[in-house]
Amino acid sequence: MPEDAKDADINFAKDFMWGASTSAYQVEGGNHNQWTVWELAHASELAKHAEKKYGHLPNWAEIKKQAEQPGNYVSGKGVDHYNRYEDDFKLLKRLNLNAYRFGIEWSRLEPAEGQWDEAEIDHYRRYIKKLQEMDIEPVLNIWHWTVPVWFAEKGGFKKKDNLKYFDRLVHKLGDEYGHLIRYVITLNEPNNYASFGYQLGAWPPQEKNFLSTIWVYWHLVQVHKRAYKILKHKHPEMQVGIANQLANIQAKRPHNFFDELSTKLMRYLWNWWFHRRIRKQQDFIGFNYYFTDYYTGVFKRENPKTPLSDMGWYMEPEGLYPLLLRIWARYKKPIIITENGVADAHDQYRRWWLEESIVAMQRAISEGVKIKGYFHWSLLDNFEWADGWWPKFGMVEVDRRTMERKVRPSAKWLAERITELTIE
Ligand code: BGC
Repeated sequence: MPEDAKDADINFAKDFMWGASTSAYQVEGGNHNQWTVWELAHASELAKHAEKKYGHLPNWAEIKKQAEQPGNYVSGKGVDHYNRYEDDFKLLKRLNLNAYRFGIEWSRLEPAEGQWDEAEIDHYRRYIKKLQEMDIEPVLNIWHWTVPVWFAEKGGFKKKDNLKYFDRLVHKLGDEYGHLIRYVITLNEPNNYASFGYQLGAWPPQEKNFLSTIWVYWHLVQVHKRAYKILKHKHPEMQVGIANQLANIQAKRPHNFFDELSTKLMRYLWNWWFHRRIRKQQDFIGFNYYFTDYYTGVFKRENPKTPLSDMGWYMEPEGLYPLLLRIWARYKKPIIITENGVADAHDQYRRWWLEESIVAMQRAISEGVKIKGYFHWSLLDNFEWADGWWPKFGMVEVDRRTMERKVRPSAKWLAERITELTIE
């Protein structure tokens, strides 16, 4: 790189967390929770309706075969991360990443109500210790949408009385791993979970009930607050937050009354409502960025038709910048980008996405925004919930027949860029 270009760079602090994210259920394999029960019951139906759901995508011809097979919708052996985690951590090192956001699977730790599985508790202890040994900052994510079947059968987060079970899990995690961990994310995307599971009915438990949505969302606020209190009481130094899905929401026609009104309401309801409720119980603001959305009329989303990711999502990576500024202006707390990435099987957009995301962070940092870390979604190709295996988010491609891992070119590029961008 020419010297002048280098000088123009805003460098990232040496302790900046350059990381990747996964969730336990999406990579481990061999899970048994409310999602695995649901996916086995719905795989055939999902396969049958694939064309209706994905037929409009430009890559339909390419994904058709896989998307029309029930097996696509079953997590099964995952990408065997449960057994291969040491090798996967070596990949993090190869990519010059110094941090890793990972999940624990509650249903492994407490397969039956009140019964802890000591072997699984040891598993995650070894897992975390291995990360430390390799000098990779472990960022523990407690809940990423999956719950044990017994908890779901009791009504899950819809019932206030059930929150005590989550408190107990948090106590356990605090006692077992708290001394090994500096960063904890209690909840992943409560907004998506409540709306897809309880409002839109697309995910388990497939309710379409406004009141249920509100209850679940409200209870998740309490879940976080209680978890925060428990963890900070045991480990006052621990940094605790959430990872909500925040979008760069903009008016399609600036200054149009309805477009502005929809935009402002959506920003408040989708982005800020949850963070505002927990403003005193978060040490950092954690968020996942995937979307820039333009609103018009009465809550109508109308995005440009291009460029689109494999999943048909409109891509505007630079939308991270206004979002960072807004978050900083509101909360003045260190920010962690807990997820950010793109479904891109041919790796044609990921490098551009990464470049733009880095520029967005540099612009924000130059204006005084404190960013502590960036975690790309995802380290590995993984199980994309109700869409199954065809979407490819991995920096590392995985062949699920052989479980062979292959680093994608964009990830190699990022590895080099990180060394250039880190202050020595
Ligand atoms: C979720 C991930 C998911 C990713 C890509 C995020 O909303 O936290 O679990 O795989 O988006 O869709």
